[in-house]
Amino acid sequence: MSTIPSITLNNGTTIPQLGYGVWQVPDDEAASAVRTAIEAGYRSIDTAAIYENEVGTGRAIAAAGVPREELYITTKLWNSGTLDWSGQQGQDAVLRAFDESLAKLGLDYVDLYLIHWPRPMHGTFPNVWKAFEKLYQDGRVKSVGVSNFGTEQLDTLLRESSVVPVLNQVELHPHFPQAELREYHAAHGIATEAWSPLGQGKELLAEPTLVKIAEKQGRTVAQVMLRWHLQSGVIAIPKSVTPSRIRENLDVAGFELDAEDLAAIATLETGKRLGPDPQGFDWN
Ligand SMILES: NC(=O)c1ccc[n+]([C@@H]2O[C@H](COP(=O)([O-])OP(=O)(O)OC[C@H]3O[C@@H](n4cnc5c(N)ncnc54)[C@H](OP(=O)(O)O)[C@@H]3O)[C@@H](O)[C@H]2O)c1
Repeated sequence: MSTIPSITLNNGTTIPQLGYGVWQVPDDEAASAVRTAIEAGYRSIDTAAIYENEVGTGRAIAAAGVPREELYITTKLWNSGTLDWSGQQGQDAVLRAFDESLAKLGLDYVDLYLIHWPRPMHGTFPNVWKAFEKLYQDGRVKSVGVSNFGTEQLDTLLRESSVVPVLNQVELHPHFPQAELREYHAAHGIATEAWSPLGQGKELLAEPTLVKIAEKQGRTVAQVMLRWHLQSGVIAIPKSVTPSRIRENLDVAGFELDAEDLAAIATLETGKRLGPDPQGFDWN
C-alpha cells in the first residue's frame, strides 16, 4: 500500500485514499474477494450491516495474516425504518447494532463507523449520532462519520455535537462530482469519500472523453477515474469481484492526469445520480 496515499482526518487518524468496497458481494464470496484484495495490497475495506457480508469480510481479515493495525475497516449502521431511533431506546439500538457488526466481523474495534443514511424526514439522526459519540469516546471505534448526508444534516451535527464526522461517504463520479458538497466538507474539515467511484461500472466506462484520456495515458478508463478521485483529494472505494480488476484498480499511482485531462473530465457532469437522492430517501 506504500504507493497509495493516505488522508489525515480531523481527529488525527489516517485512512488510505483508495479502499475496497463490498456492496453486492454475497457473504460466501466475500471471504475470497476480500482476501484477494488484501493480497493485492488494499488495506482499507468498506462494508455495511445491510450488505450482509460482514461475516465473510471478517473471515478474510482473519485469514489474510496482515496485522490488524495495518488494516482500516469501515462498517455502517443500518438505521432502517423498522426500529424507532429516537430517545434512549434509539441509542441502545445503535449500540446493539454495533455489537452485532463487531461480532460478525470478528473484531474488537472498527476504524470507522458510519450512519448509512440520514433519513432526514424522521429527524432522528442527531440522536443516533449521540450513540456514535459514545462509541467513539469509549474507544470502540477509532473514528465516526456519516454517509449520504447533505449540508443541512451536517450543519445540525456541527451545531449540536462536539464530535465532527471525519468524513461523509456520498455518491461521486465524473457524472456527479458533488462540487458544492465537497467545498462544504473542505470548509469544515470533513473528508469526502466516493461511493460508486466508477459509476457502478456502467456508461462511464465507455464514455468517449474518458476512453480518449485512457488511450493517451496508456491506462484503462477505470484507472483514469480512480486517478481523478485521488487528484481531487477524494477517498475512493471501488468494488470488483474480478481478481484482475481488483489489481487494476489499485494500480493508479504511476501516472498523473494533466490540466487538459482534468478540464475534459470536468465537462462530463450530468447532475444525474445512480442512486436515490438521500434528502427524500427512506427505508423500511
Ligand atoms: N454508502 C452508501 O450508501 C453506498 C452506496 C453504494 C456503494 N457504496 C460503497 O461503495 C462501493 C463502490 O460502489 P459500487 O459497488 O456501487 O460501484 P463501483 O465501485 O463504482 O463499480 C462497481 C462495478 O464496476 C465493475 N468494475 C470494477 N472495476 C472495474 C474495472 N477495472 N473495469 C471494468 N469494470 C469494473 C464491477 O464489476 P465486477 O465486480 O464484476 O468486476 C462492478 O460491477 C460499494 O461496494 C460500497 O462499499 C456505499
